[in-house]
Amino acid sequence: MLIQRALSRARVLSTSRYFSSLSSIQMQTINLPKSPPFSFSSNNHGCNFLKSKPSSVSSPYSTAAFSLGKSSRKGVVPLAALLQIGGVQIAKDDVVKENDPTNNVPDSIFAKLGMQLHRRENHPLGILKKTIYDYFDVNFPGKFEKFDDLCPIVTVKQNFDDVLVPPDHVSRSYNDTYYVNSDTVLRCHTSAHQAELFRNGHTHFLVTGDVYRRDSIDGTHYPVFHQMEGVRVFSPEDWSGSDMDGTEYAAADLKRSLEGLAKHLFGAVEMRWVDTYFPFTNPSYELEIFFQGKWLEVLGCGVTEQAILHASGRTDIVAWAFGLGLERLAMVLFDIPDIRLFWSSDERFTSQFSEGKLGVKFKPFSKFPPCYKDMSFWINDGFTENNLCEIVRGIAGDLVEEVTLIDNFTNKKGMTSHCYRITYRSMERSLTDDEINELQEQVREAVQNKLNVVLR
Ligand code: DAH
Repeated sequence: MLIQRALSRARVLSTSRYFSSLSSIQMQTINLPKSPPFSFSSNNHGCNFLKSKPSSVSSPYSTAAFSLGKSSRKGVVPLAALLQIGGVQIAKDDVVKENDPTNNVPDSIFAKLGMQLHRRENHPLGILKKTIYDYFDVNFPGKFEKFDDLCPIVTVKQNFDDVLVPPDHVSRSYNDTYYVNSDTVLRCHTSAHQAELFRNGHTHFLVTGDVYRRDSIDGTHYPVFHQMEGVRVFSPEDWSGSDMDGTEYAAADLKRSLEGLAKHLFGAVEMRWVDTYFPFTNPSYELEIFFQGKWLEVLGCGVTEQAILHASGRTDIVAWAFGLGLERLAMVLFDIPDIRLFWSSDERFTSQFSEGKLGVKFKPFSKFPPCYKDMSFWINDGFTENNLCEIVRGIAGDLVEEVTLIDNFTNKKGMTSHCYRITYRSMERSLTDDEINELQEQVREAVQNKLNVVLR
């Protein structure tokens, strides 16, 4: 449990530490599903789970929009149950399959698909994305292509195999990743698109998108967040005049380019490079800056493993790559205290941000009182905290601020009890006792029924 908690916690606080972990899947208590009952065919357009694409799609990387509620495979569906992302139509029942043991996507996650906060110009994530674009446009004019509408539903191969994530890596577990079926996931990082873009001949690109991870609940963890991936390819003529080999040349360029980016975002701050491990790069680094009195990890990066390039049909080249979490940077740049705020449509939040204005400090409109509820139960072998958190979020949505394990003991019979404290707090209003009591009652019932634990 401790290991599991530590892993889970480390990875959103630090986006890249997730993949810098070498831990294998066996460390967690998970139930891997049976083999798939079916598999979807690929349309080769960055969204491989649907059988067909709409005729309006002209480019593999076209824009997304909510569909106007046309019919799906199963007839007419409500407006929000049919999305178009990256030119691909997605119906709710393509993604959420309650009775399918190979699927673990809840309704609450489907509701986030297609929201694309990073494409909103006056949203902190959109403003940050644009500021990073500006840096690359000014320093590498006309070089970097931008993709911010690639479908977040990808194959296991794209998400893991193509970027060399080991078969037993913890990130592949059903406890950590949302599976549509055993071959298809909601991408858990934007690195999922690297191999395809290499294969298609792209040499300089930035991929921004929503990524999905099952996780615990607190002010910096949300099951959907946003990343940007950057990649630059070099060919032998780039490094032949230097006294470096391709890898050294790419690593030096990577460090120079990303130090420039950090300066562009944070000003003249102290920086340091930390050696680390990622399955997809070698060497691998994290860039940290000294900001507001502490060292802050800005991104993970490295020189792309040759095996990824070779498998994509590219030989003779070397590449660098980086990945950064937009929320973690936006939270410090805009002083946003809670990750749930990014999803708020409250005007008191949304009206504070406008295009081009990076770093305008968020003024909290008020801090509403929290309400704490504890619940204790005997866990079973399959119990995981991520499963618990998903149930709580499914019922209380963004009214839940934190779920914390406050007590944990095993009795003489070997039964283990956990006590969790659930903190309820709205970002927008005061909650009434009645409404919290009702939510807590629903949570208790669902936890008992869905997790098969015994309430105490
Ligand atoms: N995909 C990594 C993560 O989500 C972040 C990352 C690290 C991306 C290093 C990269 C990279 O391209 O080179 O944790």
